[in-house]
Amino acid sequence: MFSGKPPFRFLKQIQQNETLDKVLRNYSHFQSKTPMKRSPSLVPATILCAITLSGLLTAAHSQQKSSLEAVPYPEGYREWAHVSSAIITPQSPAFKRFGGFHHIYANAKAMEGYRSGTFADGSIMVFDLLEAQEKDGAISEGGRRFVDVMLKDNKRFAQTGGWGFEEFRGDSKTERTLSNPQEQCFGCHAKKQERGFVYSVLRK
Ligand code: HEC
Repeated sequence: MFSGKPPFRFLKQIQQNETLDKVLRNYSHFQSKTPMKRSPSLVPATILCAITLSGLLTAAHSQQKSSLEAVPYPEGYREWAHVSSAIITPQSPAFKRFGGFHHIYANAKAMEGYRSGTFADGSIMVFDLLEAQEKDGAISEGGRRFVDVMLKDNKRFAQTGGWGFEEFRGDSKTERTLSNPQEQCFGCHAKKQERGFVYSVLRK
């Protein structure tokens, strides 16, 4: 089911093109509303608009691309320190998105961050989400749903509190799922600004 297969890259491209198409369509819609007879002063304004729009599109695209590509798969994270675990059950409003077991892991730099309260560049945390299966009163781990990653780099990810976000599907190290990490991840983590955008706390 989650055996991340080739069409993904292609799908991602389509998604991006769709967004582009939408913006362009809206733009031509806007253009069609402008009077047919343009006064000369409208011409430079239209050109300026087009330049600004293409600039915005390029910026939006390169930002999306950089945040998607700048957070690598967290190779070896199962050897890192275990921070904490939890189970999200069907009673939770977060079940559909995050239901199951999750285990949080941190690399050495992130461990310092948990202790000091300040996460230095290079800190990485992983939120490892697995299915939860109940049998004979015992709940055990099932297949991996996805691997969520946060990587600290204050310069590159200045717009999202210094954190780069990424999600890998199932056991895949290459199949990335996010189209807009700012909305899909940071929107929620932003609520923890006073704790450096980190939710979990290190337990003994
Ligand atoms: C609806 C809110 C919400 C959204 C959306 C969300 N998270 Fe989280 N995230 C949390 C909570 C709550 C925890 C702490 C869970 C715990 O302590 O067991 C957490 C923990 C984490 C951690 C461990 C570090 C920490 O902050 O505790 C990582 C890594 C993480 N999330 C990555 C992501 C990524 C990547 C996305 C986007 C795909 C994402 N999160 C989206 C709420 C959210």
